[in-house]
Amino acid sequence: MSLIPCQRHRFSVPADIAYFNCAYMSPLANEVLAAVSEEAALKTVPWNYRPEDFFIHVERARSAFADVAGCNADVIALVPSASYGLAIAARNLPIGKGQRILVLAEQFPSNVYVWRERAAEAGGTVEAVTHESSESWAAALIGRIADDVAVVAVPNCHWADGSMIDLNLVGAACRRVGAALVVDATQSLGAMPIDIARVQPDFLVAAAYKWLMAPYGTGMLYVAPQHREGAPIEHNWINRGGSENFARLVDYRDDFQPGARRFDMGEKANPPLLMGVVAAANMLVEWGIERVAATLEGATDRIAMRVRDLGFETFAKSDRSPHLLSVRFPGAMPDGVGPQLAEKGVYISVRGQSMRIAPHLYNNEADVDRLVDALTSL
Ligand SMILES: Cc1ncc(COP(=O)(O)O)c(C=O)c1O
Repeated sequence: MSLIPCQRHRFSVPADIAYFNCAYMSPLANEVLAAVSEEAALKTVPWNYRPEDFFIHVERARSAFADVAGCNADVIALVPSASYGLAIAARNLPIGKGQRILVLAEQFPSNVYVWRERAAEAGGTVEAVTHESSESWAAALIGRIADDVAVVAVPNCHWADGSMIDLNLVGAACRRVGAALVVDATQSLGAMPIDIARVQPDFLVAAAYKWLMAPYGTGMLYVAPQHREGAPIEHNWINRGGSENFARLVDYRDDFQPGARRFDMGEKANPPLLMGVVAAANMLVEWGIERVAATLEGATDRIAMRVRDLGFETFAKSDRSPHLLSVRFPGAMPDGVGPQLAEKGVYISVRGQSMRIAPHLYNNEADVDRLVDALTSL
């Protein structure tokens, strides 16, 4: 597969900034910013904003998400955050007294708190699964998936250290015992392929401000067929049947717009955000997700090799995702690593005992040299 040449020219990242923090927040590409700005100007002339504009932009963004996720637009709801999508999942999955909900140890809080609340309501428990370094996350999870598990709520790569979770295996194990699978793909969708038809999640959510390269406050929720008649967490006018007819909105109706649209967030028809999503998704589709993954894997491999030469530790390649590299000090991590690197124009995140390095296509070899020099000076 051909790799993607450096795309720095499409971003406004200055030459003296080495930004390795896409897992924190991606920079908007220039073309995404242009789309957002152009649409924001629409609200200076609201008389030009037609009733059909409440639907057109929304459906374009839905299709754009579907193109990146590799599914049909009808099965996607527009959400403002991962936590919103996870709240929909939690509302719609049955949990019986004494049943268990499995999450990963040190999982991102948006995919933990909601399950704690749900378990407390239902008289169930939340279990954080740990794994030994000799054992994969999937093996550890499968070892705990039994008849009394109601939900497995996991990502496909760990947000803190980039370690991989094989969801094909986890999905199959869930189906064997009738447990639901909820996936938080915020740290992977856009950066690595996921085969939704094979994993068969009940719900899959992704906030779009990281690897989907879209504005903050955007995201998508995939909803499996068996939940498309489920209960939304808010009831806004536009998700109901017939809402296209503004003159008849108070003919209150019980039916919803088709597919997963009943779960769309309120005030979804926000053109700057929606067209930002479309521009970002078009860019990702132009690159191709498999090529993005292969190119980022090349970058993290090169960085891994160079930092190991400096005495830092990284995961074996087979255990890590292509786009996220966890770099650990041989001993304890000294204080103030993040700010010290930032002083040298190098941006990473410190998560637990490791530095999380998250490159994207705007990074160039000079960025890698700057990172290695800065790490050397630590
Ligand atoms: C795995 C994961 N999920 C979700 C989020 C964001 O959550 P929310 O959209 O609820 O703010 C993050 C942010 O770092 C994340 O790493």
